[in-house]
Order: sequence, then C-alpha cells, then structure tokens
Amino acid sequence: MRILLILAHPDPNSLNHAIAAAARQTLEQNGHEVLFHDLHAEGFDPLLPAGEIPRGATLPGDVARHCEEAAQADGLIIVHPNWWGMPPAILAGWVDRVMRPGTAYEFVGEDGGEGVPVGLLKADKAIVLNTSNTEAGREETVFGDPLERIWKDCVFGLCGVADVTRRMFRIVCTSTAQERREWLDETARIVAETFPPEA
Ligand SMILES: Cc1cc2nc3c(=O)[nH]c(=O)nc-3n(C[C@H](O)[C@H](O)[C@H](O)COP(=O)(O)O)c2cc1C
Repeated sequence: MRILLILAHPDPNSLNHAIAAAARQTLEQNGHEVLFHDLHAEGFDPLLPAGEIPRGATLPGDVARHCEEAAQADGLIIVHPNWWGMPPAILAGWVDRVMRPGTAYEFVGEDGGEGVPVGLLKADKAIVLNTSNTEAGREETVFGDPLERIWKDCVFGLCGVADVTRRMFRIVCTSTAQERREWLDETARIVAETFPPEA
C-alpha cells in the first residue's frame, strides 16, 4: 500500500519525530511505500492565498504534489502534538491547502448551505498520533478533546475516510524513558494492525 505520513513538529529531537520515525520504519518493514513529509523540515507554507481558494485553481508545484499524494494514498498517518486543542498552525494550513474541493471532497445537491459533503479520498483508513501534557479526565471534561472531532469528523469524515484510529500519548512532560519506549512500541503495533504487511 501507499501510505502518506505527515509530521508537524519543529524539533527533530521531539517525541513526535520519534513517533513518526517508528511509524515509517514499521510501514517500510511491512513492505509499504511511504510518502513522508516533515512539514517544518520542508518549510511547508501553511498560508492559503486567495488565489488558491476557487475550485480548479492553479496550484504551486509542491501543493499540487501534496494534493495528488493525499488523494491517491491508500492510507494516511498524521503525527502532531496537541497545541491549544488544535494541530500546530503548519498542519492546519496543510489541511487548508491540501484537502481541496475536487480532490479531497465535493459538495453535492442542495441542503440550504454549500451542499452535502462527499469524500473523495481513496484511503479508507487513517491513523492520528498525538501527544499532550493534559491528564485524560481533564482533557475530556474541561476541553472536550477537540482533536477527536477535528480529525474524525471535520477532516477525515468529510473527506471520506471512515476508519480513523486516534491515539493520544500522555503525559509527555512527566513521562519516563521507559514510557516513551512503550509508546513507540505501541505506535508500531497500531501501524502494523491498521496497515498489515503486504501479502
Ligand atoms: C504552543 C503550544 C501549545 C500547547 N498547548 C497544549 C494544550 O493545549 N494541551 C496540552 O495538553 N499540551 C499543550 N502543549 C504541550 C504539548 O502538547 C507537548 O509539549 C507535546 O505534546 C510534547 O511532545 P513533544 O515532546 O514531541 O514536543 C502545548 C505546547 C506548545 C508549544
């Protein structure tokens, strides 16, 4: 399978980088083709210019490539920390520019608004791997775990990816080396279960 792996974290020594590396290694060991993008390392520009908003707009080469890869991937993996209950801005901007009408989704029919969204992505499975410093009970009761809805409903649900596995690794700031090793092992397990070895 061809899997698109997107990493959004500025620090190469971060846990997020280690998680993405574990995911990538597992995919490659299992015979998958990995399309890997470290958005910071690539200097991905997250600002959607006005000229790119219309459907069918002419896109710069790197954005067009991301759109093509996202549309054609058999599976997607997103790795990022929880920043203010949101993905880091570089990743929010990647969604703005890459999850486009015509390749990631389409509005059809009449519903009193833009129309009913229909997902166009080829992938039927995605994994979202997050890290945070908030205890699980507080995340749920005080903040409502916004990342759960952002990824499962607002982005992947709308773009047609129904099967989304999300794992939040917490609490990073007080974690031991042993815990972090176990999180990387768990990452490998989740990735191998979701995208099993090529036959
Ligand atoms: C700008 C910023 C915003 C953050 N917002 C939150 C937050 O809303 N909730 C939370 O639990 N942690 C928050 N954090 C902490 C990060 O989630 C945490 O540092 C990260 O998950 C640790 O992973 P890393 O070692 O890969 O950076 C924030 C950190 C930064 C830098």
